[in-house]
Amino acid sequence: MSSQIDHLLTENRRFAPSPEFAANAIGTAELYAQADADREAFWAEQARSLHWHTPFTEVLDWSNPPFAQWFTDGELNVAYNCLDRHVEAGNGDRVALLWEGEPGDERRITYAELTDEVKRAANVLEGLGVGHGDRVAIYMPMIPEAVAAMLAVARIGAIHSVIFGGFSADSLRSRIDDAGAKVVITADGGYRKGRVSPLKPAVDQALGDRGAGPQETVEHVLVVKRTGNEVSWDDDRDIWWHDAVPAASADHEARPFPAENPLFILYTSGTTGKPKGILHTSGGYLTQAAFTNKVVHDIHPESDVFWCTADIGWITGHSYVTYGPLANGATQVLYEGTPDTPHPGRWWELVEKYRVTILYTAPTAIRSFMKLGRAIPKKFDLSSLRLLGSVGEPINPEAWMWYRKIIGNKTAPIVDTWWQTETGAIMVSALPGVTETKPGSAQVPLPGIAIDVVDDDGNRVGNGNGGLLVITKPWPSMLRGIWGDPERFVETYWEKFQKQGYYFAGDGARLDEDGDVWFLGRVDDVMNVSGHRLSTTEIESALVGNEAVAEAAVVGASDETTGQAVVSFVIIKESYLAAHDPEGLAAQLRSWVGEQIGAIARPRDVYIVGELPKTRSGKIMRRLLRDVAEGREVGDTTTLADTAVMSIISAQVK
Ligand code: WT7
Repeated sequence: MSSQIDHLLTENRRFAPSPEFAANAIGTAELYAQADADREAFWAEQARSLHWHTPFTEVLDWSNPPFAQWFTDGELNVAYNCLDRHVEAGNGDRVALLWEGEPGDERRITYAELTDEVKRAANVLEGLGVGHGDRVAIYMPMIPEAVAAMLAVARIGAIHSVIFGGFSADSLRSRIDDAGAKVVITADGGYRKGRVSPLKPAVDQALGDRGAGPQETVEHVLVVKRTGNEVSWDDDRDIWWHDAVPAASADHEARPFPAENPLFILYTSGTTGKPKGILHTSGGYLTQAAFTNKVVHDIHPESDVFWCTADIGWITGHSYVTYGPLANGATQVLYEGTPDTPHPGRWWELVEKYRVTILYTAPTAIRSFMKLGRAIPKKFDLSSLRLLGSVGEPINPEAWMWYRKIIGNKTAPIVDTWWQTETGAIMVSALPGVTETKPGSAQVPLPGIAIDVVDDDGNRVGNGNGGLLVITKPWPSMLRGIWGDPERFVETYWEKFQKQGYYFAGDGARLDEDGDVWFLGRVDDVMNVSGHRLSTTEIESALVGNEAVAEAAVVGASDETTGQAVVSFVIIKESYLAAHDPEGLAAQLRSWVGEQIGAIARPRDVYIVGELPKTRSGKIMRRLLRDVAEGREVGDTTTLADTAVMSIISAQVK
């Protein structure tokens, strides 16, 4: 952290938007003044750009904190807002999705076509007995049906839980169980890195491995045929999308639901081994997703081509692939595959081909392109790009400058957007037509958002100092809870600053002399690997679940490309060593974690050690292990029960 602080103290480059950009930008400086004058009136005005079947009269009910209700007596239909109303306004022929599969197949889907598909899918789901409040798990590749599936669930007032296609059958199982899903929507497979990545088999495995778990809740599995790989079939349970959806009626009325109707659950890693089901509701979530997409990404729906590269399995894909852009009636690129297949210029080829104007991606991707060199993007015409966005982790100034120069042709503003699964939408970011940007800083809270940087007791640290990021006022797209666990919701986010009533984000941050925010990474046992959140504890429990492992400790070590990398230290059981050859064990444990959680959680390094550094009360001192993993001199060891243990570990790691 100290090297980052040194860096930001010396960062004095500033980039103002061009006068043309500023003149045409949707987000203006007046928004700050309006929001400052009356925050609730400001959000009410943003909410009114949606279609309400029943207009709300109350903006915010904060009478029972931290359980907020926004626009509570209003009624709307989220899917209607993303689809029908654009068709009714005469924009049915506008392209909603410019989809490209990894092998190069293409589909252009207009708002009218997507509306039709969603209405049919909504009828299919209702025919399967899915109704208001029921949960539907979605485990899909990045194909148009994935977006249609989310909207079909929303349309009927049910709740989706999208599970990233890279998660294992085990992870899928626990998420399906936690939510009590009635239906799973999946595909036979998707294309990734030039190969078929099977999905339906993982669903079969998840549903087959009932074990000692609760009773099965899943009644049906709806399957899109994408890759044509062999899949097993249960005639009573499984239904092909291509049989059911086209045959269903295209008449489906979008019924109104209360603003606080749950829209989705999205699981994210916390500091314990059990992922949290973050719950979002309808009116406030859609208001802020659409508003931020409009002003931060400066979407002009008639002319822009937006591309958010995130998978729908993450919050970024929920808010800036499905809900924000479609609520705004925008045209966007949806790409199925990996950035380097079949060649390392694949993304830039897509930017050129579709004349993408706004690109929203993660620092980890930018750093890997940087590593490959400028010659690759330089082969393509990127002149359509007029705005660039970054999300998921702090972007280091070098990567920021490269992004601006090589991808943005030294003119496109860059917005570094800070937010979380829990916040639902962007919270801290420059406004591209207003803010003078600074490489490496996420800068300022958006209009209508109130944040601060405080010390451990909740006192503001003031400019020039570091501390903890807090959100001091409720916001429309805030999480409404953790599915099935209200106590954990209160404890995780609200207990630390209970006295002040602040939301604790779990991020360290620093305010510079201008009051701009610089994010410094997580302050808890949560890692950020390639912009994805992973819990040290969750990976540790996966490791100790292996028959060979007695104890495990996991740390996030800084990594040039992925931001942080998973590094694990394991103690092997004597009994296992007595009967097995330890050769190859580290590699086996890496793939074990991949099978238990998913490939993203696979440790970069597995070190087999004899002991772990613990305090007298038995707490593992991960800080010291991080020193080892990052090749630094080991820090203060005086609180260790056995101060010699670190030199033993260091020797074993070499
Ligand atoms: C955590 C949230 C928000 C969508 C993607 C990740 C880190 C996110 C930034 C940024 C510095 C960032 C934070 C945050 N983070 N964006 N622009 N600068 N850090 O969502 O998985 O819920 O992770 O990502 O540490 O707490 P998530």
